[in-house]
Amino acid sequence: MAKSIDVSDLDIYYGDFLAVEGVTIPIAARSVTAFIGPSGCGKSTFLRSLNRMHEVIRGARVEGKVLIDGQDLYADDMDPVNVRRLIGMVFQRPNPFPTMSIAENVLAGQRLNSKRMKKKEADEIVERSLRSAGLWNEVKDRLDRPGSGLSGGQQQRLCIARAIATQPEVLLMDEPCSALDPISTSIIEDLIHELKTDYTIVIVTHNMQQAARVSDTTAFFNLAGVGQPGKLVEHGDTSTMFSNPADPATEAYIQGRFG
Ligand SMILES: Nc1ncnc2c1ncn2[C@@H]1O[C@H](COP(=O)(O)OP(=O)(O)OP(=O)(O)O)[C@@H](O)[C@H]1O
Ligand SMILES: [Mg+2]
Repeated sequence: MAKSIDVSDLDIYYGDFLAVEGVTIPIAARSVTAFIGPSGCGKSTFLRSLNRMHEVIRGARVEGKVLIDGQDLYADDMDPVNVRRLIGMVFQRPNPFPTMSIAENVLAGQRLNSKRMKKKEADEIVERSLRSAGLWNEVKDRLDRPGSGLSGGQQQRLCIARAIATQPEVLLMDEPCSALDPISTSIIEDLIHELKTDYTIVIVTHNMQQAARVSDTTAFFNLAGVGQPGKLVEHGDTSTMFSNPADPATEAYIQGRFG
């Protein structure tokens, strides 16, 4: 199920503004890759380009190649809606649909994608997704209650359940814990550990301890100054990046000397 991603020489524009320049990076299947770097260096922009989510922004475009298991993500015959189903995304703020129940939230991606589903099948998807997201036991008796009635950490796990309900091959997470307390954060980190046996995971984080704890590979992005494009400075094995980075800027950032 999980797939690898190969990015080569990717430039990402907002209109005339070159936000991210010349990124080349391989992302292995069934691994966790952390994107780190100072604010504005293009982490979210790059992450969104991996499931064509940035295309919903007017004037945004890419040059270069993104391959998913060798298939060109930006080929003319690739349906962006299908791409977003195969490459799921979890955002910084938990964003369950407020008027939908917990179960309906889990099925939201499904409902948009397919015809009518049998109740039994729907029930199975709800249970399987909530179990994988580590939320089942906490919500199994109130599946018909609004998703907005859950705690922040529970809502974020609900959003993860929603993202994995369509059985994606890749899961992109943009600072998924930044709005959460330490206990919810540690639950999500444990979950990331479990999910990587089935999914290829990319996580943006400002928390260096979190990057060190959850990721196999780390990619450090930086920018030369305001208005300059963000670039990938280096990427590699997380333990090497944290103990012995190749670039002095990586070391300075990891040690908290800027950003
Ligand atoms: N929708 C947009 N339209 C125009 N410019 C944008 C848009 N989104 C981001 N940018 C610009 O692209 C650059 C990279 O922004 P991005 O949000 O990717 O950075 P980031 O590394 O995720 O930062 P942070 O750590 O603060 O989330 C910034 O200069 C930003 O102002
Ligand atoms: Mg961001």
